[in-house]
Amino acid sequence: MKTRTVSELLSQENVLTEVDIKGWVRTFRANRFIALNDGSTINNIQCVIDFEKFDDTLLKRITTGAAIHVTGALVESQGKGQSVEIQVESLEVLGDSDPETYPIQPKKHSFEFLRENAHLRTRTNTFSAVMRLRSTLSFAIHKYFNDHGFYYMHTPIITGSDAEGAGEMFRVSALDPKNPPLKEDGDIDYSQDFFGKETNLTVSGQLEAETYAMSLGKVYTFGPTFRAENSNTSRHLAEFWMIEPEVAFMDLAGNMDLAEDFMKFVLKYVLEHNREDLNFLDKRLQDEDKLKPQAERNEMTLIEKLNFVTDNHFKRVSYTEAIDILRNSKPNKKKKFKYPINEWGTDLQSEHERYLVEKHFKCPVILFDYPANIKAFYMRLNDDGKTVRAMDILFPGIGEMVGGSQREERLDVLREKMAALNIPEEELWWYLDLRKYGSAVHSGFGLGFERLVMFVTGMSNIRDVIPFPRTPQNAEF
Ligand code: 4AD
Ligand code: MG
Repeated sequence: MKTRTVSELLSQENVLTEVDIKGWVRTFRANRFIALNDGSTINNIQCVIDFEKFDDTLLKRITTGAAIHVTGALVESQGKGQSVEIQVESLEVLGDSDPETYPIQPKKHSFEFLRENAHLRTRTNTFSAVMRLRSTLSFAIHKYFNDHGFYYMHTPIITGSDAEGAGEMFRVSALDPKNPPLKEDGDIDYSQDFFGKETNLTVSGQLEAETYAMSLGKVYTFGPTFRAENSNTSRHLAEFWMIEPEVAFMDLAGNMDLAEDFMKFVLKYVLEHNREDLNFLDKRLQDEDKLKPQAERNEMTLIEKLNFVTDNHFKRVSYTEAIDILRNSKPNKKKKFKYPINEWGTDLQSEHERYLVEKHFKCPVILFDYPANIKAFYMRLNDDGKTVRAMDILFPGIGEMVGGSQREERLDVLREKMAALNIPEEELWWYLDLRKYGSAVHSGFGLGFERLVMFVTGMSNIRDVIPFPRTPQNAEF
């Protein structure tokens, strides 16, 4: 007999005489009703037991978390809350779960507690929904690029270059800790880290993606990236996944169109394919809202928010316009910005970004043409000589979701910029080669995958949208 999934059974129209199913017990009530889940859907299937038919010692082993194997008949349910249920004919415990010590009880656990049990937290409705959505989103991302003629390329994880020039890298060392090479002054010679080179974990696959864009035309990477920033915010991880398309012969306006079209596609995709999970998370947020004062409640439900983003244009605003708006605004009657915007040229803080998207425009915003001195070395300098063709996409409730730009394609300008920032040409000779041989306008962006998952699921902490979060306090798994 073929083992079926709960998802398959719940969508059955017909009664089936013989079904076979395996999963984990969520609850067992009245020595009669097992709620069984196998991860295929947020819903459980009810398995009804005639307890007189089964041995008491066996029934005692039906505890929350136990893995079981059930066969029986799928019949129309007599009870409320489900259309079908299984009348159990045979029952086998595959793996016991000690109710005294099993951490995931059938009650509400705090997210902090569940983070400490990251290996078991997908056995809850919330985390299973989040992780199924994460999976669907990954697939939708590959689908979008595949449908649009992009090649998927794998960029290196271990690299010698600092793509963002921000110095936030984890060093990779192959040195023998007991016998490291030493410099003349006795300090460890880290320049020997990786068989004679200094190397680190990549902060972005962009520079390598540029090399492929300049031959294959349209490429993207989707892989892990690492930032050694010691930030303990709800939006930063030390290890996160980034989607980075890179396209030859595309300027900044094309980059904005691509990012907007792409994001709308993946949002529509989950709305169509993961509705049950979204509905569950939506209800969770609405229940949470009911406990909050009116002013703090969400203006839209989760589904409304996702539909709003797919149905409306992202607002495009230059940095200079944004600064004017911020200078003339107060976040609310009582408070000023913690970091007031006094002059043109300062970087925006998250309070400013949030004000722009949540209070002023109330929709996703693409900010572009930033001051050159607050952005990375590779961005295309504008004719004004002081701004670059950068774009950040800001989302309500999230802040910066995307960072991208048109790249500097002129060899002389790029060289000058690198010299001004003390970036050695020897490190990036291959990057400069792209400007020597067949250079062309090209652009791309990076989307922080976990921030997208946060937006889609309504989860408020980035640690709760990645299976095993890496943060300064959290890396034990
Ligand atoms: O703005 P960033 O640093 O841009 C780049 O790395 C470019 N090289 C991308 C490109 O043009 N190909 O990072 C891009 C995005 C951010 O907008 C944010 O969503 C996410 O990556 N991000 C993080 N997400 C989680 N934790 C962190 N520490 C992150 N740092 C950046
Ligand atoms: Mg950025």
